[in-house]
Amino acid sequence: MTDKQGRLEGAVVAVTGGGSGIGRAGAVACAAAGARLLVTDIDAGRAEAVAASIREAGGEAASLAVDVTDRARVAAMVEAAVERWGSLDGLFHCAVDVAFVNNRDARLTELDDEVWERMIDLVLTGTYNCCKLVGRQMIAQGSGSIVLTATDDALIGCAGLDAYTAAKGGVVALTRSFAAGIARDGVRVNSICPSFVSSEPQRAWLDDDASRRAVDALHLLPIPAPEEIAPLVVYLLADESRAMTGTVVPIDSGYMAFKANLDIVGAMRVGD
Ligand SMILES: NC(=O)c1ccc[n+]([C@@H]2O[C@H](COP(=O)([O-])OP(=O)(O)OC[C@H]3O[C@@H](n4cnc5c(N)ncnc54)[C@H](O)[C@@H]3O)[C@@H](O)[C@H]2O)c1
Repeated sequence: MTDKQGRLEGAVVAVTGGGSGIGRAGAVACAAAGARLLVTDIDAGRAEAVAASIREAGGEAASLAVDVTDRARVAAMVEAAVERWGSLDGLFHCAVDVAFVNNRDARLTELDDEVWERMIDLVLTGTYNCCKLVGRQMIAQGSGSIVLTATDDALIGCAGLDAYTAAKGGVVALTRSFAAGIARDGVRVNSICPSFVSSEPQRAWLDDDASRRAVDALHLLPIPAPEEIAPLVVYLLADESRAMTGTVVPIDSGYMAFKANLDIVGAMRVGD
């Protein structure tokens, strides 16, 4: 079950939103690297299906229903890992209701107040709950690595995603300030910033020819599957990234590197 290096051999890792997409791929990759997995999700059935698939492949995994906006459930996640395995060495916090983001976010001037409030609760307070309670456990142990999931949209503007962008921008800022505060206790905090990833809730965009062309034109490399994000998560959780904390790492098929396929330089060469 372990990968060749066994980079997370014996580590106890909890994943939020582990029932689907990037969280599921991260959980499976951590298990393959030797970790013992607590797969959590708001959807208990999805979390258990992933834990069962890890066990069937020879790994060690349990599942738990955890809504990250519910602090008592996040506390239960920490307790479950520690009770079962004695520590919590890694957290991959990935949970977000992506359909809610895609369907309900908007320009601020048109945004429903309830959508703003739910977005901040889901994305930012969810991250606060996980960092606070997992962080306390890791401080007690004197070690741990936390990987948060932000987005390129928190680093570069995206029209019509104002609430999501603001909330994930908070995750980026928290990555740095929390890392600064908790480093002396032996705990590292980093975040990943994917661009478009072909997880289940994004597939409808990719199945439609026109939106597929638009998405492809915004990236230098093919749109990745969640499994292509997972190796970075394993790396950031493992000791081999011990020189990294407070970093915000784009993993984005080149999205941040260029301004789409526009001939900007040509357009500026007036009068040549
Ligand atoms: N897919 C992308 O294009 C993309 C790009 C950038 C960032 N992200 C981020 O990656 C993360 C995962 O996205 P994905 O595309 O894999 O989505 P996904 O829908 O495949 O997985 C998200 C999981 O989170 C769970 N979830 C939803 N609300 C929850 C809650 N309150 N508490 C606990 N679990 C909850 C869902 O049940 C689901 O299993 C999110 O944080 C998202 O913002 C995704």
